Amino acid sequence: MNTTKQVNVMIGLLFMAFLVFGAYFATEPAREADARDSQAELTAKRGAEIFVANCRTCHGLNGKGQEEGGIAPALNNVAFLVLEQNNALGLPPTPAGEVRNIREFLFNTIACGRSNTAMPVWSERYGGPLSDTQVNYLVNMITSARWDLVEELGKEHDAIQNPPATAKDILVADPSKLSVTTKNCGQYGASVLEFRERNPLTGGAPAPAGGAGAAAGGNDPVKLGQSVATANGCAACHSIDGKAGVGPTWKGLFDSNRELASGGPVKADEAYLKESIANPNAKIAKGFGPNVMPATFGSSLKPEQIDQIIAYIKSLK
Ligand code: HEC
Ligand code: HEC
Repeated sequence: MNTTKQVNVMIGLLFMAFLVFGAYFATEPAREADARDSQAELTAKRGAEIFVANCRTCHGLNGKGQEEGGIAPALNNVAFLVLEQNNALGLPPTPAGEVRNIREFLFNTIACGRSNTAMPVWSERYGGPLSDTQVNYLVNMITSARWDLVEELGKEHDAIQNPPATAKDILVADPSKLSVTTKNCGQYGASVLEFRERNPLTGGAPAPAGGAGAAAGGNDPVKLGQSVATANGCAACHSIDGKAGVGPTWKGLFDSNRELASGGPVKADEAYLKESIANPNAKIAKGFGPNVMPATFGSSLKPEQIDQIIAYIKSLK
């Protein structure tokens, strides 16, 4: 009698354990993905903190380099972007070999600095202040283009200074006073160009001919423009809700004033938008700063698709 009861209790307990572990394993992939996401968020945030503390002086407050009055090149370069599996853009992930090259390029450049330039040595292995882990945080922030975090943390950081720090306090004004890095620990030279020319957003996956816009959106030019923009990865750099991105937000862009480096303003009318999309390099000659905006859309998009995108941008008041 007693033994039967015990056996029943045992069976009951085993069953419960099975239920609990079954549920655990069934949700395992979701939990793993969550853990990975929050880990990535955390390391990008640490990278952004280190960037705010050490790199803004030369590379600009938000990594935009000369465009923001920095003396060093922009680091919000799309060439450094690594696309993850199942990214929000629906583009193919960056191949593993390429990821390794980009990470190595960034890691070594940051760790070693760049000889005969003002880019300092950062790795403590060569006498700099940062550990390998910290350099990796920076690499993670740059390859995932988390400039939104840099902006957010930078603003917090500057607001608590007394008086609040301004760009003028932070940016190096006279580069001739900087010391030049002489150390050579096998770093990349300035002539390594292939990374800076790569564009995973347009190069990796050519936009479907005719654009995905034809399928979604019916005849409404605004909706068509939205789907053409989505299909061509514009959102990787341009936010539509006013938040900072690699490029300017599209919200309120139409008919706003844009400043020329040589003294503006220029109205962002239809002609301006068309040129910005189809032939952005032409703007440099007119006194706009250096271009990050890919110059390939003039040939990869049809003129009517560019008009549809413009209709979409106009709708973002
Ligand atoms: C004192 C100024 C200065 C500071 C501070 C500085 N940099 Fe630089 N950095 C430069 C200059 C100048 C270059 C360009 C060197 C050249 O001409 O090749 C550069 C180049 C780079 C490059 C290579 C970019 C490319 O397109 O090849 C990376 C990556 C970089 N810096 C990352 C960082 C990071 C991360 C920090 C902060 C830990 C930092 N830099 C801090 C001056 C600076
Ligand atoms: C790799 C990042 C990137 C991608 C992708 C990108 N842009 Fe840009 N875009 C920029 C940057 C950065 C600027 C600011 C000028 C500059 O530095 O090139 C810009 C400028 C513009 C401007 C002018 C904005 C202004 O405020 O003057 C328009 C319009 C524009 N882009 C449209 C597009 C469209 C449409 C697409 C997709 C078909 C697109 N961009 C894809 C980075 C990008």
